[in-house]
Amino acid sequence: MPGSLSDEILSSWQANSQSWITTIDQNEIISRQLATNDAIVTAIEQHNPSRVLDIGCGEGWLSRAIYAPHRFVIGIDGVEKLVSNATKKGGGPAYACFNYEDIRQGKLPSWEPFDLIVFNFALFEDRATFTLLNQLKQLLVPGGHLLIQTIALPAHEFSGWRTEYWRSMKTNYPAPFPWYYRERDEWKKDAQQNGWKIHRFTDVVHPENKQLLSWIIELQVAF
Ligand SMILES: C[S@@+](CC[C@H](N)C(=O)[O-])C[C@H]1O[C@@H](n2cnc3c(N)ncnc32)[C@H](O)[C@@H]1O
Repeated sequence: MPGSLSDEILSSWQANSQSWITTIDQNEIISRQLATNDAIVTAIEQHNPSRVLDIGCGEGWLSRAIYAPHRFVIGIDGVEKLVSNATKKGGGPAYACFNYEDIRQGKLPSWEPFDLIVFNFALFEDRATFTLLNQLKQLLVPGGHLLIQTIALPAHEFSGWRTEYWRSMKTNYPAPFPWYYRERDEWKKDAQQNGWKIHRFTDVVHPENKQLLSWIIELQVAF
């Protein structure tokens, strides 16, 4: 999708990669510490998968968290600097550099199918998101699960493009990035229209004030 916002999103992650590594290394995002990290790890473990593909893995914390000697875990990301940081941190998983356009164009190696594919806060495109997800159907074993953790905003916020200026971060981020917010009903409608069935749709909330933080959407191929 040359020239589209997809390119801009990826370029901003390239520019922000060192800042992102610092943010994760210094545990700067409170909602991750309080709820969303545990929520996605628990959701994955409930499926007890043998083979996991972590897409948009960043510096690899989730791949490391779910890695076990009996489990094959590979993380991929479109930003070389994040992939090399993940590789340097080690801890068991494999890593490789591929971007979403590579996936849409069928350029992933012919890997054995996975029991579970996960995107943790890594989907920011509008229509291109489902072109990407549909291409992944062939990489899931029959009955396998696709898990997405994504930002949830209050019910009065509607789907549309927004810009993240990183104002709430302690670390300085050089590049703002555009991202598409998809409200709850649009996730459900788009999933169903694209041949996915919703296995579970979970609200992740702040443990004390119960503010909605994210959704974990668990999908399976419908047919
Ligand atoms: C908010 S970070 C999340 C990283 C990781 N999943 C985590 O939970 O810490 C979003 C990630 O999506 C990746 N990403 C965004 N657009 C991408 C694209 N078009 N192709 C590949 N990776 C992309 C970024 O490089 C970044 O690592």
